[in-house]
Amino acid sequence: MGLPLDVGCDRYEVKPKRATIAGHADGPVHIMQTGGQLEIDAFVRSIIQRNGMQDSFYVLDLGLLVQLFQGWVKALPRVKPFYAVKCNPDSAMIMTLASLGAGFDCASKVEISQVLALGVPADQIVFANPCKMLSHVAYAASVGVNLMTFDSESEIHKVKAHHPGAVLLLRLRTDDRAARCPLGVKYGALMCEVENLLCVAAQLHVPVAGVSFHIGSGATDALSFADAIAAAREVFDVALRLKLPAMKILDIGGGFTSGSTGLKFSDASTAVNTALDAYFPSNMGVTIIAEPGRYFAETPATLATTVIGKRVRANIREYWINDGIYGSMNCLLYDHAKLKYRPLLVSMEEESGDLHTGWTAPIFHSSTVFGPTCDGLDTVLQGALLPELSIGDWILFPNMGAYTAAAGSSFNGFATSDIPSFYAFSVNLHGCPAAALSIKGLLPDVMKMLLSEVNFDTFGVEENSEVSGSSNGSQLISVSNGGYS
Ligand SMILES: Cc1ncc(COP(=O)(O)O)c(C=O)c1O
Repeated sequence: MGLPLDVGCDRYEVKPKRATIAGHADGPVHIMQTGGQLEIDAFVRSIIQRNGMQDSFYVLDLGLLVQLFQGWVKALPRVKPFYAVKCNPDSAMIMTLASLGAGFDCASKVEISQVLALGVPADQIVFANPCKMLSHVAYAASVGVNLMTFDSESEIHKVKAHHPGAVLLLRLRTDDRAARCPLGVKYGALMCEVENLLCVAAQLHVPVAGVSFHIGSGATDALSFADAIAAAREVFDVALRLKLPAMKILDIGGGFTSGSTGLKFSDASTAVNTALDAYFPSNMGVTIIAEPGRYFAETPATLATTVIGKRVRANIREYWINDGIYGSMNCLLYDHAKLKYRPLLVSMEEESGDLHTGWTAPIFHSSTVFGPTCDGLDTVLQGALLPELSIGDWILFPNMGAYTAAAGSSFNGFATSDIPSFYAFSVNLHGCPAAALSIKGLLPDVMKMLLSEVNFDTFGVEENSEVSGSSNGSQLISVSNGGYS
């Protein structure tokens, strides 16, 4: 029996166990009040002290992730997020989002199998890679992941041959040209190609249930969302003109940000809501989903790195740390990231026997920070202002959850995948429902359930849409291909 917890804004209901996270050996999740810098630093210090840490590690604030989810539901009530696993495949992050009711955007067999292994039902996954490997399509067929994107004729033939039960979303090219990572050059059918693609799919009896797009990751222009939604409506209308079954799903992709850089989430969501009301009013019965990655993953993660080497050249301090461009900081190259950083001095404190003293009135030096590999390109910071650091001190990098460890390599034997994560949960006493729970003294139990058994029911079913309830209370996309075969 479910235990309804009314905390004022959303209805939380504890459901039977769906899956568990393989918890970190460090033990239980660390509870924080606000998740501010001081608390993160204190948590990092305690991890270093307790575990004798010398190598880099991540701290992930799952409480902030919950808040971001709540923020999404509030700002975009019609849009169900399918978290883009490529952005950060951390299992605790996936489980937390699954518990909250999110679906998942997977781009490969490995991502699909990871998400399934965590207990997420196959119909909560969109295989959102318009050009898929044959063996991955066959795998999707074998595990019942049916919803997938395409943007070319050849993909329709591939899907027809290897996944007869598939239901497609036509990926449309839509561009925010100033996005941090534009995707349009590689993906998305042009409007002039749409009619032919729909006809080919119909001839092959491959159902096309809707449209997807991605305006570019790290979008900067809210109007691009509006233009893309308008263009998607055109495609829905083309399908009707061709007398094909009415499309039922609109997937508005990613491009959203929650950090302090880029397009404000409130501006993006306002543009999306306005365009949805204009082009996809509720009474059309269209299910709206999105594939946010960066919005959820970026801000909850802080990377802690150790100073492993030092050289002083004239006025410049040069440091080596144990993560770099071939590891988490590949985001400098691939994600055009600008890193934030802050020092955490522990060496002097260790000598004085007090890890919490800190230092007074530091003098800052222009500093270069290198990664650990033998490549000169492996340079993380230049002209950074840092106090005098010693080997064994730490440099922390906040907002490091998106497109960081996920794309790191093992070059020179420095395996990014070996970097451990430690989990915290900020209860945020200013408005997060978790705060209400903590006040009632329920938080530890809820945390336990959050990470293993809880299902946060947040999405309403739209009238006339083909969204159906599931036995575990989450909303499932159910698309039939009966109109075609
Ligand atoms: C198909 C697809 N969906 C979703 C995402 C996630 O985008 P974002 O991190 O901007 O939300 C990406 C990122 O490249 C993508 O390619």
